[in-house]
Amino acid sequence: MLLGLELLALHFSEPLAYYLIIKGKKLQEVEAEGYVPVSIVIPTYNEGDKIRDKLLNVMKSYPLEYAEIILVDSSTDNTVEVAKSLGIPIKIVKERERRGKIFAVKEGIRNASNDIVVITDADALWDDPLIDAIKYLKGEIGAVSCIKRSNRGAENAYRNFYNVIRLSESAIYSTPIFHGELTAFRKSLLSADEIPNAGADDSSIATLIALKGYRAICTKVRAFEYSPKGLDYFSWKTRRGLHLVRHFIRFLPKVMRSKNNKYKAIFLEEFYLHLINPWFLALGVVLTAIYLPKLFLFLLLALLITLVIPQSRELVKAWIPNQFFLIMAQFKALRGEFLMWKKESK
Ligand code: GDD
Ligand code: MN
Repeated sequence: MLLGLELLALHFSEPLAYYLIIKGKKLQEVEAEGYVPVSIVIPTYNEGDKIRDKLLNVMKSYPLEYAEIILVDSSTDNTVEVAKSLGIPIKIVKERERRGKIFAVKEGIRNASNDIVVITDADALWDDPLIDAIKYLKGEIGAVSCIKRSNRGAENAYRNFYNVIRLSESAIYSTPIFHGELTAFRKSLLSADEIPNAGADDSSIATLIALKGYRAICTKVRAFEYSPKGLDYFSWKTRRGLHLVRHFIRFLPKVMRSKNNKYKAIFLEEFYLHLINPWFLALGVVLTAIYLPKLFLFLLLALLITLVIPQSRELVKAWIPNQFFLIMAQFKALRGEFLMWKKESK
């Protein structure tokens, strides 16, 4: 019964091979041609303790005279008052009731006066100037996003691995996964009504832009976000996983029908990594434990060793739970879209 072992080998070697093959690809540099007017949409739900730092960060990242800031708010706390207290021009769209981030995002896009729309979460901070991302928004590039870092070690190791993959996919053509910390696109290419009422607004925008024949890329602009602690970390990871699972299933038929083979290949690889590869780990573990118990113990020992080596420790610590979260996410995804979620403590 070598099947278990083969599944385990495939589980680890496939992503590693993908990583090593695409890793060297570099995005073609673009010169910034100067500031252009942008609309910055911030959806907010009870961000009273984060919104001040968020707005200060936005102001530091892009000149205010070129930025129209739009807050689409459904808070029950003092988010709007705190935002107003900064004394800068902000367009506030107050929602009658809370309906979920996606409705706020679409309302924000409808209210945007500029062609370049930047969507950004209130609990995320940009490390780099916004211009370094939006300077790419011309010609064949229709949407841009960021790479990410977090305050949590294991989450960061996982991020670093995926940041390389996002940037390399972007250099090859496009990436189907975007981040809500910074999602910018040209409104003339995509209207709010075309965006599905889904949890992963960010990745929907990326994929819709790619399906229209434009590129959707992640840039080296980095965004910081706090990861929730304790049990909230679990619900946060499975919720995000669930959004991605539904994203991949929703767009699979459309991507398969498209004639863009480069995009198809990248999308299918990510579909595999998020929906199929996690099962190979679970099945591989079960089959090996049953049929090859001695070898299984040996593999456990090898795993323990990777947890001691500093170079692999954080990635392994993040990788294994993440596969578990992705499997949980598939079960959760069966219950439908999840548009409103509890605010995790960060
Ligand atoms: N107006 C409004 N209404 N805003 C909301 C609502 C809502 O019902 N729910 C969340 N928001 C706002 C938050 O205040 C925050 O600014 C932003 O939307 C993101 O919400 P978080 O609660 O911080 O979500 P997250 O960071 O865990 O979710 C991430 O992953 C998702 C994919 O799974 C983000 O990157 C999302 O953008 C992404 O879609
Ligand atoms: Mn967040």
